[in-house]
Amino acid sequence: MMRSMEGPASVLFSEDEIRARVRELGATISRDYAGRDPVLISVLKGGAVFLADLIQAIDLNLRTDFMSISKYEEGDDDSGVVRILKDLDQDIGGDHVIVVEDIVDTGLTLSYLLSALEARNPASLEVCALLDKSARRIAPLDIRYRGFDCPDRFVIGYGLDYEERYRNLPFILEVDLEVLARDPLALVPYLEGERGPRR
Ligand code: PRP
Repeated sequence: MMRSMEGPASVLFSEDEIRARVRELGATISRDYAGRDPVLISVLKGGAVFLADLIQAIDLNLRTDFMSISKYEEGDDDSGVVRILKDLDQDIGGDHVIVVEDIVDTGLTLSYLLSALEARNPASLEVCALLDKSARRIAPLDIRYRGFDCPDRFVIGYGLDYEERYRNLPFILEVDLEVLARDPLALVPYLEGERGPRR
């Protein structure tokens, strides 16, 4: 059950916390992949915000690429069926690949994606996820690089959306979904810095 909040939302991870953690992840990846040129793959759309910051914290000669997928067949949320809408622009055979995700929830999306990528014979394949909502996991996954453990709550900001809005919040909010369902614009004041910290 949603913990009671003062307003419609509260800050779960601040801009400073995210910035510091992204820097740490970048430093770790830089160390782990020293001497190699990894390919970082982001899953659109949410993962793109994290990827953009993460690559700037990595001092390697890396490449990036993007995939776009549609999740699940309609009305069958746990089927794990994922369709590739936009594939990679490059061959990853023999490459050191890191899949960058904003959030891993059930794990179904990533689990499908990892099998699809594994079939292309990369030299290695790892996952870097900013948020790990492990309480919801259905498909077991090995997440090598994890930003934060995420409680089982609805979260938006830093790439995560509600009906395509709020991806541009520089922090992550946990949200009272009932409030948003009643009024999808209820959190616009946070974008304007009126209800929450911008830093
Ligand atoms: C989110 C997230 C992952 C997926 C995780 O994407 O970016 O790709 O859900 O969920 P799972 O672990 O339960 O499979 P979403 O479908 O919200 O698309 P978006 O990034 O375009 O908002």
